[in-house]
Amino acid sequence: MQIVDSITAIKAKIKEWRQQQQSIAFVPTMGNLHQGHLSLVEKAHKLADKVVVSIFVNPLQFDEQADLSAYPRTMDADIEQLSSVNCDLLFMPTVQMMYPQGTGRYSTVVVPGMDDKLCGQSRPGHFDGVATVVSKFFNIVQADIAIFGEKDYQQLLLIKKLVLDLNISIEVHGSPTYREQSGLAMSSRNQYLTDIERDNAAVLYQILLDVKKQLEQGQYDFATLQQQAMEKLKLAGFKPEYVEIRRAEDLELATKKDNKLRVLAAAYLGEARLIDNIACYLA
Ligand code: PAF
Repeated sequence: MQIVDSITAIKAKIKEWRQQQQSIAFVPTMGNLHQGHLSLVEKAHKLADKVVVSIFVNPLQFDEQADLSAYPRTMDADIEQLSSVNCDLLFMPTVQMMYPQGTGRYSTVVVPGMDDKLCGQSRPGHFDGVATVVSKFFNIVQADIAIFGEKDYQQLLLIKKLVLDLNISIEVHGSPTYREQSGLAMSSRNQYLTDIERDNAAVLYQILLDVKKQLEQGQYDFATLQQQAMEKLKLAGFKPEYVEIRRAEDLELATKKDNKLRVLAAAYLGEARLIDNIACYLA
């Protein structure tokens, strides 16, 4: 695996691969990699000749400085893991390289309709930060395909919309959420959980499955289902932000006529803000 930390170097490598007619898949990450990330790299290998991964803790998408500073940085372990799944090229730019004029003076990409609901409500500016850095990466890497985990389902749809709205020539693929045996969605933020909290954390997934089951049984009172799920989360020791049943295609409010749904939740368990979602396709 080749590691590059300059925009010039990555562009040169991409040019070389292009001359050799190699197709390129890109997996952007913020590091602190786990099996979920590695599954994205494995999927990338199936879809393209070369796989590029970026590791960049993007300051623009953090609402609190403390959260940014505390974000786990595990470079050596990340490099080892990426080598084990045959990543071809790892791009690790610095903040100075990505935002040479400072993060406060930057052209920002906004994806209206997707950035201000669900997670966007409690994290204003977060999705602008994601859309901006991902646009920059797409321009730098010039890949054919990009892969994002479905755990961040709102982020995945936001990026699909961004690519469509701005005519960016890249195919965006989602990849299923990678779960621990308990059902807990893998996330870098899980390491903020204590051992006791970790044992309890899969309740979030269980509650989503329960909502899905009730929808499949014909219970269409979305508000009641959401409210009951919030109460169950509270009883289990979570501080829920939302449990929402939305239209899968655009995360707009669902009606009884919609049969492709997504059940999404965000909740704090101790210090960790956990998010999860599942598909619910009704017959
Ligand atoms: O999902 C993430 O890890 C980040 O939001 C991303 C897409 C790498 C942008 O910084």
